[in-house]
Amino acid sequence: MNSFDRSAAGIAQVFRGTFVHSTQQTALEILEDALLGVDTEGKIAFIGKGEELDKLLKSTNFNPSEVIQLSQHEFFMPGMVDTHIHASQYSYAGTALDMPLLQWLNTYTFPVESQFKDLDFANRVYSKVVKRTLRNGTTTACYFATIHTDASLLLGKIANDFGQRALVGKVCMDRNNFVKHYKETMQESQDETCRFIAELLKKKYPLVKPVVTPRFAPSCTGALLGQLGAIAKNNNLHIQSHVSENTEEVKLVKELFPDSESYTDVYYKHNLLTDKTVMAHGCHLSDEELALFRETGASLSHCPNSNISLCSGVLNVRNVLKQKVKLGLGTDVAGGYSASMLDAVRKALDSSKILTIQDPEHDTLTFEEAFMLATLGGSQALSLDDQIGNFEVGKDFDALRVNVAAPGGPIDLIQSEGPKILLEKFLNLGDDRNIMEVFVAGRKVIPFTEPTA
Ligand code: GUN
Ligand code: FE
Repeated sequence: MNSFDRSAAGIAQVFRGTFVHSTQQTALEILEDALLGVDTEGKIAFIGKGEELDKLLKSTNFNPSEVIQLSQHEFFMPGMVDTHIHASQYSYAGTALDMPLLQWLNTYTFPVESQFKDLDFANRVYSKVVKRTLRNGTTTACYFATIHTDASLLLGKIANDFGQRALVGKVCMDRNNFVKHYKETMQESQDETCRFIAELLKKKYPLVKPVVTPRFAPSCTGALLGQLGAIAKNNNLHIQSHVSENTEEVKLVKELFPDSESYTDVYYKHNLLTDKTVMAHGCHLSDEELALFRETGASLSHCPNSNISLCSGVLNVRNVLKQKVKLGLGTDVAGGYSASMLDAVRKALDSSKILTIQDPEHDTLTFEEAFMLATLGGSQALSLDDQIGNFEVGKDFDALRVNVAAPGGPIDLIQSEGPKILLEKFLNLGDDRNIMEVFVAGRKVIPFTEPTA
C-alpha cells in the first residue's frame, strides 16, 4: 500500500474501511482498514493504513473526529464505467428484443430516435437515464444521443447537472434507406457535429465532453466517415461507433465498402481508429482486425446483454485480452435491456461460461476480471485511466460506497464474510439498494440532493 501526500490542496473528506479495486498488476486488490483522503478538488490525496491515521493527518488541518468509518459489511469500490449506452433508447429498454440487429434498428430504434427532435421528450428520457445509471453505480457513461444537436446538448447539461462524468455523442448518419426521415445530409452531419462540439465545449462542464459519433459504417457514406475522422483529429476528440456486431451487418459492410479489407479497415481508412476510439461489440472480428485495434490503441466495448438479446454473437473476451486490445463493458441500452453495469458484469461472466460449455478448454473469465473490466478496464477503454478507474493518488475520487447487508436489500448474509466474498456477492446479487453513496470527482451525487430526484 502506498502512502503519498497531495496535501497542497486541503483535505475535504477522509474515509476508513475496506477498499477494493483493480491495478495494472492485479484484477482485484483488497485494502483492509485503509484510510483514503480526498482533497478539495475531488482528487485522492492519500491512501494509507488505518493505523497511520495520526501520521497521515498530521500535515493537514483535517480533524480526526470527522473521519468517516465504514461498517463491517461495507466497502468502497471504483465507480463503474459504462463504455457504451444509447441514452435515447432508454425509453423502450426492456422491450423489443425479438429481432436481429438490422431489422431491430429499422423497426424500433430509428422511429424512436426520430422523436428526440422534441426537446420535452428528450428531457424526460435523458433525465431518467442519467438518474437511473448514476443510482446503479455508473459514474462515467459514454453516451450515444440521436442526430439532433440541441437534444444532444441537453443530455450533456443533464449529466452535468446530476454530476455524472460523461462523453456525449451527437449521432451522425447520412444513410438510411428504411426510415427515410431519420437521417442527415453529409453537410448537415458535418456542420451539426461541429456546432455540437463547439457549443458543448463552450459550456465548460468539468466532467462532460463531446465524442465524435458515426453511428456505424452502414449508416454513413465514406465521405462522412472521412469528415468525422478529420474533425476528431483536429479537435483531439474521442470517437465512438459500432463494429462487427452481427454477421449480416458484416456482410453488408463488405458490400457497401468493397475497397476495404475488413469492417475494421473501413474505420481505419477514415482515420477513425485512434487511442481515443471505442467501438462497441466486435463479436466477429478476426485476429488481424484485433491487431489493428491494438496497433492504433483503439478499444472495444463488450456489451454482453445486447449480444445475447439481439442474438448477435458471443465475444471471446479471453482472446481480446490475449491480443492486448483495451476492453471495457457496456450496457448498450436498449439492445441490452438493463441500464445497470452490474448486469453487464453478470452477462459478461455468463457469456464466458457459454464459451466454456462449447469448448471446455476455454479459459473462463473470473469475477475479479469482470470487476476489472467494469472499472479500470472501462477507464482504459475510454483513455480516461489517467483520471479514473481505481484508487490511486492523484486520480479523481469516483467511488461507490457499497453495503452488502443494506436493510431491505437483495442480499442475505448468513455468516460473517471477508471482503472478497462480499464483493462477489454484491456483483452477483446486489443492486442499487446496496449502493449507499456514489461519488464523482469527490462530490456525493447519490443520494440525490436535487428536489426533483
Ligand atoms: N449499430 C448501429 N446502431 C446501433 C444501435 O443503436 N444499437 C446497437 N446495438 N447496434 C447498433
Ligand atoms: Fe450500441
